[in-house]
Amino acid sequence: MKVLSLFDGMSCGQIALNRAGKPYDKYFASEIDDKAISVTMDNFPATVQVGDIMTIDLEKLPKIHLLMGGSPCQNLSIGNNAGGGLEGEKSKLFYIYADVFRKVQPVYFLYENVASMKDKDRDIITSVLGVNPIEVCSSLFSAQTRKRYYWTNIPQSPLPVHCEVKFRDILQTDGYTLLSDKAIQYMNRKTKNGVSRWSFGYIHNADKPKSQTLIANIRKGVPYNVCIDGDKFRHLTVAECERLQTVPEGYTKSVNKTAAYEMLGNGWNINTIAHLLSNISITG
Ligand SMILES: C[S@@+](CC[C@H](N)C(=O)[O-])C[C@H]1O[C@@H](n2cnc3c(N)ncnc32)[C@H](O)[C@@H]1O
Repeated sequence: MKVLSLFDGMSCGQIALNRAGKPYDKYFASEIDDKAISVTMDNFPATVQVGDIMTIDLEKLPKIHLLMGGSPCQNLSIGNNAGGGLEGEKSKLFYIYADVFRKVQPVYFLYENVASMKDKDRDIITSVLGVNPIEVCSSLFSAQTRKRYYWTNIPQSPLPVHCEVKFRDILQTDGYTLLSDKAIQYMNRKTKNGVSRWSFGYIHNADKPKSQTLIANIRKGVPYNVCIDGDKFRHLTVAECERLQTVPEGYTKSVNKTAAYEMLGNGWNINTIAHLLSNISITG
């Protein structure tokens, strides 16, 4: 099987293929972020990096059996203020995926994006790719709430009905960093809407059965990966974020903490993707 992975990030697609037990002999990755590429090459040195999606020379590629990718969601996600939908600066890269999809004519494809996009954008993707999306929340496969749409022609098995793993099960009992006084002050400060930042949707509460969705948007001065655990206010560790994404622990060790958090927030939930890939069958 030959695979082309667009917007490959840190190559969660490759981890998922291995977890699903789907061997491949070539994995072509299109990615432009140096740190993400370095994590991929640290873990999968045989990856063939083909660079920017805008300049891939498709003529040079062999027959592709599996095309996968999730294009940037900044303009689609309600958790992001960028707006603009599929026509937005970053999210319009979906159309480049679609262009490659048409030219490559893969045997199988998988396209992923946020489930919080507008119906209008979802319907455009559906009409371009020709299949209806499946909405999956990764809480069925891990300790994290992460709702995503997946468009694929891979035959699908029923989704599990429940996943036992709870948020608290994956938390470390030590080795984490407490929020600084400055960060706590920031969190206590009310926004213009009069609400406390502790009520924001991306704050993780250790007493909830599942964590909130990990996000990639780490902004300077804004406390990241905030977790409330009883009377403790702390950050999630990189290992905890890897566990929430069911990424092997230590996978992002070759980059600094900020880059690791960002990549993990951007990445795929491996157990979810492994399930979606599990009925791939290439013969001959
Ligand atoms: C939502 S993330 C995908 C993460 C990926 N699924 C993973 O497993 O880590 C989108 C990725 O698209 C990459 N990207 C943005 N513009 C690109 C371009 N012109 N060509 C290739 N990759 C690009 C970003 O650097 C980012 O890693």
